[in-house]
Parts: sequence; structure tokens; C-alpha cells
Amino acid sequence: AVQQQEYKQRIKSLLKEKNAVLIAHYYTDPEIQALAEESGGFISDSLEMARFGKNAEQDTLIVAGVKFMGETAKILSPEKTVLMPTLDATCSLDLGCPIKEFDEFCSAHPDRTVVVYANTSAAVKARADWVVTSSIALEVVEHLDSQGEKILWGPDRHLGNYIAKQTGADMLMWQGECIVHDEFSAKALLDMKKVYPDAAILVHPESPASVVEMADAVGSTSQLIKAAQELPNQQLIVATDKGIFYKMQQLAPGKTFIEAPTGGNGATCRSCAHCPWMAMNGLGAIENALTDTSGHEIFVDEALREKALIPLNRMLNFKA
Ligand code: 13P
Ligand code: SF4
Repeated sequence: AVQQQEYKQRIKSLLKEKNAVLIAHYYTDPEIQALAEESGGFISDSLEMARFGKNAEQDTLIVAGVKFMGETAKILSPEKTVLMPTLDATCSLDLGCPIKEFDEFCSAHPDRTVVVYANTSAAVKARADWVVTSSIALEVVEHLDSQGEKILWGPDRHLGNYIAKQTGADMLMWQGECIVHDEFSAKALLDMKKVYPDAAILVHPESPASVVEMADAVGSTSQLIKAAQELPNQQLIVATDKGIFYKMQQLAPGKTFIEAPTGGNGATCRSCAHCPWMAMNGLGAIENALTDTSGHEIFVDEALREKALIPLNRMLNFKA
């Protein structure tokens, strides 16, 4: 704990010295989120991280999250220096959607409007008509469907299936998934619900359909935090990355939060409800990035950036 305080003090001084601001995702470890709060930074979902970075007055952004979040920040703010604690923090959705194959998929279906999840590379965004995050995906697809557009969706198949079900839109899916949410088990959740019959179930839509069907609230990280505060239930079973408990406990302090089960039937979990890439964002790595930016700075090819900016701005302007 003493060491953590020392780290935090040094990082706070560095942030001031470099005119930098820390932007963290809800899935990062509690000490990172606390540091973002204490240092006048920002914690949020992936949509609001993008917006905040763009509007920040500081000229350096340090993004604690995964690579697509740093890239999005750079695409929106090319004049700013965008740093990440580690450039190795990727995402299984991004990894599972290489541009070459995705481009071929899109080209084989030229009649479809391409809508991609923000959890993708800059190149995949540049190939898309729209970028969305889970906070806004449902409304954007609803809008496109009402215009009679057929959609090509990628890469998260669970989120895509959930949106198709909710909106009735014609959606052709890329078959990607988040390794963290894909592990939540409906069968084990049913058993847990018997133990906590009064608990409400909160689910991120990257989870399998069988888990989403059991939910009292489905939504992005920020929407789930809101539901945790607003639902009358005192006990909440939460099917998303456990990093989210930091904010939920802070904003709904009297309530009991229970991790939704992964696996079931004795099956061992691989990610165990914590994203291995989000977990790479340590205090030491943040200090390193601020001390020596080499190997921490995000660069996006300018031609690609200009292309990716178009669908990203569509999202940001859709609902300001
Ligand atoms: P949110 O957009 O809900 O913050 O989710 C980002 C993410 O990576 C989910 O796994
Ligand atoms: Fe990607 Fe899943 Fe990690 Fe989010 S939690 S960054 S979707 S692997």
C-alpha cells in the first residue's frame, strides 16, 4: 500500500509536468480507476472515453484500457500525444477480425451497410460506414433499419445477435467474440439464482444469448452501472468484467455485488471475468509511459486515420 501511494504521487506529478490526463476504462484495476479520479482524470465506457479525450484541454492523453481505445483517441485527436501503459493490451475481438479477411467479407456483400464495433483496429474502422460502441449500437442499428438498410455487422456475434433480436434488423454477422464475456454460463447462473432468488441479473451484451435472456438489465458498462444504482434489488449478480465493481460499489454502496459464474460443472475459466489485456494496465506501466514515451505512443497512419474518422464521427454526432 505504501508503494502504491508512492507510485500514485510520482504519477500525479508527472501528469502535471507533462500536461497529461489519465483516461481509464471501468475494467481497469481499482488502483488505476482511483488514480484517474484523484488526478482529475476520467473513468468511463468506451464511448465516453473517446469523447472525453477529444475535448480534453491537455495535450497528452494517457489511455488505460486496450489498444483500440488508444487508437480511437488518436484518430479523434491527431494533434495530441496519445500514450498507453502498454501497447500489448489488445482485445480478442480486434485479434479475431483481421482487415484482409474482413475486407473480403465486406466486398462480397456490397449491398450492406458496414457497422463495426469500436473494439477493432483503425484499418477495420476505416473499412466501415459506421462505428458503434455497446452504449449506442442498438439506437444506430434501429435508425439504419428504419431507413431500410441491410447491415453487415462485426466482429462481436453475441452483441450482433442481441441487437438483431431487439431491432429485427437484417444483420449478417462476422463471427467474433470477447473471451471474457463468452465464458459466462447460463446453466451455472441458473443455479446461482436459486441461491440468491431476490438478486437482479446485470449482463453486458457481449455475453452469450442464453445469459442475456436471463438478464434484468442488459447494457454497456455505463448502462450497467446506472442499472446497479436504479434497480430496487439489494443483491446484484453481474455478468461482465469484475473491474466494474469498483464503480458499482462506489455509487451503490449499500448493495451486495456478486460475480456471475463462468464455466460451470467444474469447468475451469480462462479469463475468469477479468480481461487479461485490461489487467496489463499497472501503475508501474503508467509511470514508465510518462517518463519515457518510446514504446508507449500510439501512431495511426494519416490516410487510414482520415478514413476511420468518418464512421467514428458519425457515431459521435448521432447522439451528442
Ligand atoms: P463498453 O463500451 O461497454 O465500455 O465496453 C467495452 C468493452 O471492451 C467491453 O468488453
Ligand atoms: Fe476485448 Fe473482451 Fe477485453 Fe473488452 S473485455 S477489451 S471486449 S477481450
